[in-house]
Amino acid sequence: MKTCLYDAKPHLLKSVVAEDIRALTGPQPFVKDAALNLIYVADFSRIARGTNEEKDFFSAADTGFIGQNVYLFCASEGLATVVRANIDRPTLGKTMKLGPDQRITLSQTVGYPKK
Ligand SMILES: Cc1cc2nc3c(=O)[nH]c(=O)nc-3n(C[C@H](O)[C@H](O)[C@H](O)COP(=O)(O)O)c2cc1C
Repeated sequence: MKTCLYDAKPHLLKSVVAEDIRALTGPQPFVKDAALNLIYVADFSRIARGTNEEKDFFSAADTGFIGQNVYLFCASEGLATVVRANIDRPTLGKTMKLGPDQRITLSQTVGYPKK
């Protein structure tokens, strides 16, 4: 289970960390075994204007839109999903080799519902 960066323009996943870091995306017991954990990262250097407070706001709003789309997709496909804010951001950011402008906003687990 590797960690990939989603590059939206070419619609491609690029491998960034070889090891399985699912357990680092949250303390809940299901996280380490889930089929997929999405980690939303805002890159402040790519937000052209605004104070850091405004960038925080834009990043949170954007993450909400994306996360909600994931909820809609999961509902349509019979998958389970949950958005999570409880993340050890310094440890996860270090493992993902994120720079100071790259801020983890939320994570979202996708899996199969309990039978
Ligand atoms: C922005 C945001 C952050 C959240 N963070 C957490 C979290 O860290 N841990 C958690 O257990 N639930 C968190 N929740 C709540 C869950 O996403 C979910 O709404 C809740 O567990 C109820 O899900 P259910 O209706 O499927 O049982 C968060 C919700 C939102 C909107």
